[in-house]
Amino acid sequence: MSELPTDLIHHPYRPPQGFDAVAPGVYKASTVIFPSVHALRTRQWADKSGYTYGLHGTPTTFTLEERIATLEGGRFCVLCPSGLSALTLVDMALLRCGDEVLLPDNAYGPGKSFVATELAAWGISHRYYDALDAADLASKISPATRLVWLEAAGSITLEFPDLPALVATLRQANAARSAQRAIVSALDNTWGAGVAFKAFELGVDVSMQALTKYPSGGADVLMGSVVTRDAALHQQLLMTHMRLGLGVAGNDAELVLRGLNTLALRYHAQDAATRELAAWMSRQPGVAQVLHPALPGSPGHAHWQRSASAAACLFSVVFDPALDQRRIDDWCDRLRLFRLGWSWAGPISLCAPYDVSSIRTRPWPHAGALVRFAVGLENVEDLRADLAQALHVL
Ligand SMILES: Cc1ncc(COP(=O)(O)O)c(C=O)c1O
Repeated sequence: MSELPTDLIHHPYRPPQGFDAVAPGVYKASTVIFPSVHALRTRQWADKSGYTYGLHGTPTTFTLEERIATLEGGRFCVLCPSGLSALTLVDMALLRCGDEVLLPDNAYGPGKSFVATELAAWGISHRYYDALDAADLASKISPATRLVWLEAAGSITLEFPDLPALVATLRQANAARSAQRAIVSALDNTWGAGVAFKAFELGVDVSMQALTKYPSGGADVLMGSVVTRDAALHQQLLMTHMRLGLGVAGNDAELVLRGLNTLALRYHAQDAATRELAAWMSRQPGVAQVLHPALPGSPGHAHWQRSASAAACLFSVVFDPALDQRRIDDWCDRLRLFRLGWSWAGPISLCAPYDVSSIRTRPWPHAGALVRFAVGLENVEDLRADLAQALHVL
């Protein structure tokens, strides 16, 4: 039995209304208290007119949803506990047994793995298309196609697709379909982050982001978002989200809300540093090609020039095939500021070697090793010196 007075728990003090700070409050809840049975029976959470249970939203998560929708130029947002869970939510909400989903061959790997395993086991088929070829996408569309993923730029190899051409291909396919059978387009917009281009202005139906990257910016939180403009589509996503029990914690939402204030500043600063380092690396001996959408000659550069006004902090270096993987690994091991690790858009620069041919179905034209770099917030001259001091091992 507790010796403490019950008043300690049922305390009458309530904080005053009207406290107005720059940062929104951080609310945490599983239970939300109702003042009456009537309120318990009638209160609605789905339209954000009330709070019913922590999983269905708190003032902190509703605030973050509203701000992410604003960032993306959308109307509705749902938050998920990671970028990957936001991806898989879209799949699960929009696909049923017998449907087919199309993905670019250079899509984020774990998203491809989900469709190839879980969705396949539930009777949902998938096919990959060439992200740089709208005609290839058109040829892959079948009567079963219900969802098409887009990603700009592609994962690891950073090809920038012709988004307006891909969206036009889907519009054309939808012109011959009923609204119920329409193909939904969903963009993984983690790279663009709502800064490099406006997804909805390019005509996509769903924009998904790993908030883990730019919006958080701290390399210390995992979260994802799914934004739409269409109310019926949002409702479909929201109900699946609720049934799956997806939710985010108030403290994590707070970190992302804080990160949002500096998102555009960080995006442009990291963009400038990345372009400098990517261009410098492309002039170094032993480098066959640097992949970065803003570099002339990089796949999809012309599409990027037409659709985007900025580029994210990623570039990939393809080395001369004469340099074997062991020497490339040695080079990565010698880097001091670029640390070895997954993810990107945090304060610390990262690098990781990838075996591209093992993650693609389409032939990969390069024989040399590939290393992907994510540029952080360090001084760019120090980062260049770090790359240079390790280059002698090559
Ligand atoms: C393009 C892209 N989409 C989605 C994700 C998944 O995000 P998370 O790590 O939050 O699950 C990542 C993570 O690296 C990513 O790079």
